[in-house]
Amino acid sequence: MRTQVGIVGAGPAGLVLAHLLHLDGIDSVVLEARSREYVERRVRAGVLEQPTVELLRAAGVADRLDREGLVHHGISLRFDGSDHRIAFDELTGRSIAVYGQQEVVKDLIAARFVAGAPPLFDVSDVAVHDLTTESPRISFRTADGSHGELICDVIAGCDGFHGITRDAIPAGAATVYEHTYPFAWLGILAEAPPSHSELIYTYHERGFALHSMRSPRVTRLYLQVAPDEEIAAWPDERIWAELHLRLHADGFTLTEGAVLEKGITGMRSFVVEPMRYGRLFLAGDAAHIVPPTGAKGMNLAIADVRRLSAALAALLRERRTDLLDSYSDACLRRVWRAEHFSWWMTSMLHRFADADPFQQRLQLSQLRYTASSRPAATSLAENYVGLPWE
Ligand code: FAD
Ligand code: DHB
Repeated sequence: MRTQVGIVGAGPAGLVLAHLLHLDGIDSVVLEARSREYVERRVRAGVLEQPTVELLRAAGVADRLDREGLVHHGISLRFDGSDHRIAFDELTGRSIAVYGQQEVVKDLIAARFVAGAPPLFDVSDVAVHDLTTESPRISFRTADGSHGELICDVIAGCDGFHGITRDAIPAGAATVYEHTYPFAWLGILAEAPPSHSELIYTYHERGFALHSMRSPRVTRLYLQVAPDEEIAAWPDERIWAELHLRLHADGFTLTEGAVLEKGITGMRSFVVEPMRYGRLFLAGDAAHIVPPTGAKGMNLAIADVRRLSAALAALLRERRTDLLDSYSDACLRRVWRAEHFSWWMTSMLHRFADADPFQQRLQLSQLRYTASSRPAATSLAENYVGLPWE
């Protein structure tokens, strides 16, 4: 098989890229290791920055997002037992949308079917070859076990943090910058109406907690836990008891409900530079990871492929390589801003087991300053709602 762009991975990065290329008249094939059901059910992110919403809308894939997404004009920081609201609309004139990542993925997969180019699901043994030539190849096994090969003009590595494309870059051709945090997040989805109309990021002596949501009937909640925590150690009653303790505030009652899903995610920061090797271009989690506290991961993945699709259009329609040559540097500017913001939010809001009382007082001072100074609150707000595209 021949295609212009071979895309490895049907997460937000790979699917948005395929769609934007299609709008530009460029053909692509998306290869996905998992089944369609699996990727459509995988519960992950929930916050879309305003630039992400605008991009999806301009690309014609936001009808359901516009109908069902929850527009939020602020978040609360909860510390000292009360809420301190960061009013995004007043501070920046912008807002966010709360809409599950798997809903974005469903909408984009539906768009691939409408375009007549559905992803190939359940592929295995994916490997990339001839990356420094003008005809790189992807070999794989299809769902029925037969051998497949895609000859491409360019390969997009959109296969997430545990994918194979990043590892195809030879040692010495890229540099990794990495930081791991001494905790993880335990997340649940509960069949319960949200207990508050907006997200609440809580700093508590027992550890961080986050109140989020997916719909008027479904709440999403997170707890800071030890990095090596086993989910088996957290029966539902223990999760609710801990959430009640950490989210306690005057006038607030946490509504419980059936736990529909639960899981633990480690926290790390990771960047590979450059996001390119020959004709292989990395996008999204394949190239960078942020801790989830700033809600940036999916948004960064989509920001990358916005640039990549424009650069590929310049190559494949006009034989121009300038945008591809600047792709990595241009993406990395936004990536490092998000790396810093996510690290900063994480550092301000979590309990560090080795922190002495001096460091804890610094955290509280930072929270009080952020909540009470308009310039400091604006800095949080403009990063959270998404800085304008450069
Ligand atoms: P992925 O979504 O990981 O997609 C990669 C795809 O490639 C997957 O479908 C995978 O199955 C496939 N794949 C892997 N290996 C292969 C292979 N060898 N061959 C073929 N296919 C392969 N981000 C936000 O913006 N906002 C949030 O609120 C937020 N909250 C989060 C909460 C949690 C608990 C977690 C875990 C993450 C959160 N994130 C958030 C991060 C966000 O989910 C990721 O950044 C996002 O999924 C990245 O998209 P991607 O397309 O780059 O990678
Ligand atoms: C959600 C996830 C995040 O990482 C975050 O910062 C805010 C909300 C969520 O899943 O709803």
